[in-house]
Amino acid sequence: MFRFSRLILLLTAAMGLFPAGDVLAATLTGAPPIVIGHRGASGYRPEHTLAAYELAIDMGADFIEPDLVPTKDGVLIARHENAIAIVNPTTGAITEATTNVAELPQFANRKTTKIIDGVSITGWFTEDFTLAELKTLRAKERIPQIRPQNTAFDGLFEIPTLQEVIDLAKRKSAETGRTIGIYPETKHPSYFDAIGLSMEEPLVATLKANGYSGKNAPVFIQSFEVGNLIDLSTKTDLPLVQLLNATGRPYDFVVSGDSRTYADLATPAGLAKIAEYAQGVGTNKNLLIPRDSTSKLLAPTALVANAHAANLLVHAWTFRNEDTFLPLDFKGNPAGEYEIFFSLGIDGLFSDNPDTAFAVRNRVAGNPAQSVPEPNLLLGLVFLPLAALLRRRQISL
Ligand code: G3P
Ligand code: CA
Repeated sequence: MFRFSRLILLLTAAMGLFPAGDVLAATLTGAPPIVIGHRGASGYRPEHTLAAYELAIDMGADFIEPDLVPTKDGVLIARHENAIAIVNPTTGAITEATTNVAELPQFANRKTTKIIDGVSITGWFTEDFTLAELKTLRAKERIPQIRPQNTAFDGLFEIPTLQEVIDLAKRKSAETGRTIGIYPETKHPSYFDAIGLSMEEPLVATLKANGYSGKNAPVFIQSFEVGNLIDLSTKTDLPLVQLLNATGRPYDFVVSGDSRTYADLATPAGLAKIAEYAQGVGTNKNLLIPRDSTSKLLAPTALVANAHAANLLVHAWTFRNEDTFLPLDFKGNPAGEYEIFFSLGIDGLFSDNPDTAFAVRNRVAGNPAQSVPEPNLLLGLVFLPLAALLRRRQISL
């Protein structure tokens, strides 16, 4: 059943009147949406470094996001992938690197080829190094062709452990008086289970040892797989988030022969199943507002309303300021993209540029310390607030 607010949003979008976020639709709890520093402030520092996380916090992020992979000795560290330098197997040219490992002769013999989630990758992998060895490496900008300014920081920072990320969040919470949350993602859980480096147990143990417990703790644990989240729901009472991609299916479904796709999980029936073990969904933003072949935004889908109807939070990813990532509608105007997504009533978003996300979030949420959003005539003044009120009272039309 369509909720009234969704009907208004879809109608106004179809009429070309969608107000680029002047008024927020209701979030699930009514609280302002959270800003999640995606791998830190990755637009400004090499991702997954303590410098990137600290800058994200200083820019206003409410949560910082470490993607997690294990070392050979079972320590959880923050890296986008277990592949910390990837080469073209034919030419040997580096195609992506988040560390300088490929430049170090003492580790030349660690280069190997593995199948990770069905994909052949040649390079260096965290599970082949002890933490002590990984600590001798230095982080590099992952996408230097897009963020050349960040290469000035290449070679300066270590790979942080999960514990070091938590220590930073706690220190900055004490210093700022804000509660800085952590939003860890388990990467390739089926793969790591299969090689005897299961991540769930050390993750739960580390979070417990640091005093995190309960559904109100400033923690969200996320995964693209389903089975490990269900497993985690039996091991911890911390909030869990099911990641939803725009295409494909969870890799544990591929392994088990389950034919369901992410699109199936994003249906009302799929969301109801997710709500049995998780508190939210972390969605590719294209699932909320699809793009056409020219990258122009289309009408919003009903995913936010459907997820909220299942009592699930909605956190969208990934927001980045560079034109290459922006939809056609908002080239040169990243704030406009944030505004339109906040208008949907999302409960948070992952951003590489937390300063932009923070400023827009505060403005559209009506933070008096920031500029006040301008009303959008009758639509802004009457219809959307009315829709939000009806939603809060669980009235559907
Ligand atoms: O975790 C949300 C977002 O980061 C998407 O996942 O795998 O690119 O880190 P990933
Ligand atoms: Ca992630």
